[in-house]
Amino acid sequence: MNPKRQRILSGIQPSGDIHLGNYLGAIKNWAENINNYECFFPIVDYHAMTIPYDPREMPNRIYNGICANIACGLDPERCTIFVQSFVPEHTELCWILTCVSSLGSLERMTQFKEKSQRQADREGINTGLLAYPVLMAADILIYKAEVVPVGEDQIQHLEFAREVARRFNNTFGETFPEPEPKLSQAPRIMGLDGKNKMSKSLNNHIAIVDSPEVIEEKLRTAVTDENRKRRSDPGDPDVCNIFSLHKLLSTPEEVAWANRECRVAGIGCIECKKALIQHVIDLLTPIREGYYQIYAKPDYVREVVVEGAKRARSIAQQTMAEVKDKCGLKLGGGE
Ligand code: ADP
Ligand code: TRP
Repeated sequence: MNPKRQRILSGIQPSGDIHLGNYLGAIKNWAENINNYECFFPIVDYHAMTIPYDPREMPNRIYNGICANIACGLDPERCTIFVQSFVPEHTELCWILTCVSSLGSLERMTQFKEKSQRQADREGINTGLLAYPVLMAADILIYKAEVVPVGEDQIQHLEFAREVARRFNNTFGETFPEPEPKLSQAPRIMGLDGKNKMSKSLNNHIAIVDSPEVIEEKLRTAVTDENRKRRSDPGDPDVCNIFSLHKLLSTPEEVAWANRECRVAGIGCIECKKALIQHVIDLLTPIREGYYQIYAKPDYVREVVVEGAKRARSIAQQTMAEVKDKCGLKLGGGE
């Protein structure tokens, strides 16, 4: 291994099906970089505990997340795939970082505001939801990762991680690099409902393991330009969810065709969607097939994460030793 390679770390929550937004916004970007960087990709199970969940479902979600990551091109021979809770140093560092984290900054996080507003009473909001970005900072800083490829929704959390690194360095001495975000060409994939973003929790997604029939059905019924009510109305591709996927997945000729014909009502939405449906099926078919092959090999999957945690832990332990030393967490000699 080339020791000069910079480090990448990025995580994904085991909170539901891994979807096209995760793939195009993040995982594809991870896979494209595994040869140029030293990469760490945890399944962040502790993060997934910040919203209500069924503990009986969690083990399978973690398992599925690992299979999906590998099927999306994260070759475990060339990067480190592991489960966050298997490396206890993440939560150990998290506590220390909590002590240099600004409460005001945490309360200003958009994701915290959105998720906590869904709770009617303040007593129902758990502290984990507030401290979520501190744990994310610990995930990154424990490996001194320099680069963090994420979707746009995580930029604010990353800015927070940079702030925490600065505060720690100022208080206890230069220790952590300030991690840089790395956006993909598709930093925000919209939901099939046309709103917000495609998300596991909003049920507006195409899962990477959806069958061709399900993909077709989901895209056929997906929202387009909501002002285009009738076939004869001209549409506006610039506000259309489907057109933004065309730009990512279709040929330049198809993109030009959809752009031109939609604006003059030359084509209807169903016609426009046809080419795209095929591209999404072509993209996801090998991923789905790979996923099921890996899924059928539990011994292999276990070996990947046990080996991954071992590799991750040896680095995490070194960082923790340095951090504790700098923070003065050691026994004095009675002088
Ligand atoms: P979700 O929001 O679906 O629960 P995660 O929070 O686990 O997914 O996100 C995993 C990665 O996928 C993050 O880097 C995140 O920024 C990225 N991501 C999630 N949804 C999208 C989307 N709709 N478009 C682009 N990137 C996304
Ligand atoms: N918060 C990220 C998300 O919801 C997941 C995550 C946890 C992460 N730890 C991380 C991403 C560290 C990048 C780096 O998508």
